[in-house]
Amino acid sequence: MKSVLVVGGAGYIGSHIVVELVSAGYNVVSVDDFSSGLPGRVEHIPNLSLDIVSENAVAVLASFMKKHHVDAVIHLAAKKSVPESVLFPGMYFRQNVGGLINVLGAMQKADVRQLVFSSTAAVYGDCNGLVTEDHPTIPVSPYGDSKLMCEQVIEIAANAGSLRSVNLRYFNVAGAGNPLLADRGVTNLIPMVFERLAKGDAPRIFGNDYDTADGTCIRDFIHVSDLARAHVLALDFINNPENPSSDTFNIGTGKGTSVAEILRETREVTGIDVEPIVEPRRPGDPPVVVASPEKAFSQLAWTPTHSVQDMVASAWQAFSTN
Ligand SMILES: NC(=O)c1ccc[n+]([C@@H]2O[C@H](COP(=O)([O-])OP(=O)(O)OC[C@H]3O[C@@H](n4cnc5c(N)ncnc54)[C@H](O)[C@@H]3O)[C@@H](O)[C@H]2O)c1
Repeated sequence: MKSVLVVGGAGYIGSHIVVELVSAGYNVVSVDDFSSGLPGRVEHIPNLSLDIVSENAVAVLASFMKKHHVDAVIHLAAKKSVPESVLFPGMYFRQNVGGLINVLGAMQKADVRQLVFSSTAAVYGDCNGLVTEDHPTIPVSPYGDSKLMCEQVIEIAANAGSLRSVNLRYFNVAGAGNPLLADRGVTNLIPMVFERLAKGDAPRIFGNDYDTADGTCIRDFIHVSDLARAHVLALDFINNPENPSSDTFNIGTGKGTSVAEILRETREVTGIDVEPIVEPRRPGDPPVVVASPEKAFSQLAWTPTHSVQDMVASAWQAFSTN
């Protein structure tokens, strides 16, 4: 049986990937230092509790990979807050790029040659409308810069040696595959709205004067379980020697949903009807950002199955459970 290491397996997205891999029949192990993840999410599989940026991480990781006969790595562990990255850019490069370099070092030591990397639509930076993978990558935050740098390091490693890799650029991840796997960060729109509603506060909208049908920004929301399944398909893609040694895919639905539409869904699902507070636009927020997912549809044979309503309803159930 093929063995996969999920680095960041106790996190929001990583724990969903663990579920998909186990149900696809993989032997799954995890590395997580629980800096934002939860131990309960990986208690059913072997987990190495290690900060991948720590001094002896390469040696410890490599011996964990060897012990569990790891064939492929899915690397998610990273810092992911755009505003925090603006305040502490050095930490973002140390954690995100430094962490990846240690994972690659350990893979080389343990002779593991397959990698799926968690990237983000933030690598595109200033974009508007439908975004294809060949859109210019000019990030507008240290977070986006750090993720683009990771993609570049991976490409160099793949060109230089025997590494085979796929970058998945996630759009707006939402929902929960089960109530115990909630998105506990409040950097994404839906958990942010729930947190305000739970405190009795009105949700906030940043700008309602954009050139869109209802004046609010339009984004591409993707259910976390659909996203997790894309990782299993990315492993199949890497396994096929006819595919390139390094490739990149957008993971989104190709459909835009406005912030006002999300708020309408949250009203439906929660039964809490509060008028949002309209704040000024945030700098750097383009009106419309929607993935062109055609490449993932055709080359990974991936199709998202969950609606925005599923995302809001499952996210609310998970939020309420927690
Ligand atoms: N959530 C999103 O909307 C989104 C969108 C685009 C890309 N991403 C990317 O997906 C990945 C996972 O995001 P998430 O939302 O699941 O975040 P998360 O914070 O829930 O998960 C990250 C996991 O990695 C672990 N971790 C972090 N630093 C570590 C370190 N130095 N050593 C060991 N473990 C460490 C954390 O404890 C956590 O369990 C990140 O790389 C992020 O950049 C997320």
